[in-house]
Amino acid sequence: MALSIRQIHPVFVGEVSEVDLRQPLLGDAVAAVETGMDHYAVLVFHDQNITDEQQIAFTRNFGEIENSAGGNVTKPEEHRLNPLMNDVSNLGRDHKPLARDDRRRLFNLGNQLWHSDSSFRAIPAKYSLLSGRVVAKKGGNTEFADMRAAYDALDDETKVLVEDLVCEHSLLYSRGLLGFEVTPEEREMFRPVRQRRVRTHPVTGRKSLYLASHAGTIVGWPMPEARALLRDLTEHATQPQFVYVHQWRQYDLVMWDNRQMMHRVRRFDEGEIRDMRRTTVAGDAPTVEQVQAA
Ligand SMILES: [Fe+2]
Repeated sequence: MALSIRQIHPVFVGEVSEVDLRQPLLGDAVAAVETGMDHYAVLVFHDQNITDEQQIAFTRNFGEIENSAGGNVTKPEEHRLNPLMNDVSNLGRDHKPLARDDRRRLFNLGNQLWHSDSSFRAIPAKYSLLSGRVVAKKGGNTEFADMRAAYDALDDETKVLVEDLVCEHSLLYSRGLLGFEVTPEEREMFRPVRQRRVRTHPVTGRKSLYLASHAGTIVGWPMPEARALLRDLTEHATQPQFVYVHQWRQYDLVMWDNRQMMHRVRRFDEGEIRDMRRTTVAGDAPTVEQVQAA
């Protein structure tokens, strides 16, 4: 049987069947997944009991794996997983849930805000692939919002307004929304980068809003006016008709295009183990020219 994809939401999201991610994928299957990503922007694979090595091998079909350095407050000696994996669990190296006041946990709570992975990097991520090894019994859903549909639904005046805007994104802004306090070293590591407000998909030519809670300023705008517009656009873009709620089953793998989607995780009982592992496909270029800070 050849790999097949069925749309499971009115505007996006495909469910993939007839594929085993423990095996190397043939060229036709890789091309079918890429075409599916261009079209559906989120793909759901069920029943994929894979190892980290198998997840890394599958991810490499779609490009280089992004270097995760500089994206969190976890120290190198605290890492639980291979550096090619992003640990999005609630666990420490001892495989136990982090304490309530652990800085790594408090930092990771930022994943409950709408965002696009690595928009705080000058070259932001292309795809993310999230594998549910141990899923929450209740809650812990991941929600996705389609930024293409959100763009299409803007009125003409707003499309003109946002077309050429450039924003500054940083983990300082998203974590600042939650009152998370950074060290001087983290402040330096999380220096803002510039991103276009509107992106155009390189294959389909569709435009999308490029939004994230990491966005904190609009270049050339007074701060309160910038923040007010960012809030308005985020409210618009996350209306229920643009949102898919993924309720995790163990061994689901969900893959999404960060250039076209925002996502967030929902609360769950953090006394329980939730072991989620992400690999990230690096982007290939900045969305806009960077300006060196003085
Ligand atoms: Fe994320």
